[in-house]
Amino acid sequence: MPDLHDKPEPEISPAPETQQTGISRRGFLKGVGAGAVTATVVPAVWLSHAENAAAQTSPMGVTDASIQLKVNGKIHTVQVEARTTLASALRDRLDVTSPKLVCDRGECGACTVLIDGKTVYSCIMLALDAVGRDITTVESLASGETLHPIQEAFIEKDALMCGFCTPGFVMAVKALLDANPNPTLEEVKRGVSGNICRCGTYPRVFEAALEAARKMKKGG
Ligand code: FES
Ligand code: FES
Repeated sequence: MPDLHDKPEPEISPAPETQQTGISRRGFLKGVGAGAVTATVVPAVWLSHAENAAAQTSPMGVTDASIQLKVNGKIHTVQVEARTTLASALRDRLDVTSPKLVCDRGECGACTVLIDGKTVYSCIMLALDAVGRDITTVESLASGETLHPIQEAFIEKDALMCGFCTPGFVMAVKALLDANPNPTLEEVKRGVSGNICRCGTYPRVFEAALEAARKMKKGG
């Protein structure tokens, strides 16, 4: 009877990311989760994601770096740790508080921002991964006292109750209308399907998105 424990271990090729940097994303995140970011691990990630980052390891072993993030058209220099999410960098370092933290695990969409025009859950994106990308939040929409047509439509259609989900929905609608200025109701529903509203304002959000499309076609 052959002993199963004698079976040779199968050879597994390293994933492409591991081959390039010498560290896999899984390995990196594990290290961060254990609070064990080492000086040998972090620079590989730094260099692949943030050419202008200056990494430093404190006596406590916490490694942080100075990176530049382009938020709503402006470049900001931010000090982040390897584990810092984009949501945290925006809210806690830059005082850009429209992305809300509700689930903090990529399920509800309250933290939605646009990265290069596409919706992203900022609570599950590392700040490092946003280096060199265009980050857009609700703060960019109004022009002085004049609200963006999407914001106006949300108010006119009463599309919010507690409001925690609203900035995420507004950004999802913005991404949708930028890509498709004349959506059907079905397309609106699909466009905001990554966002959850605990208060159940969905029908009004859909109406607001359609009204915003009408307003934007008329030029605001
Ligand atoms: S807070 Fe980011 S998806 Fe819920
Ligand atoms: S308005 Fe309360 S969660 Fe949507």
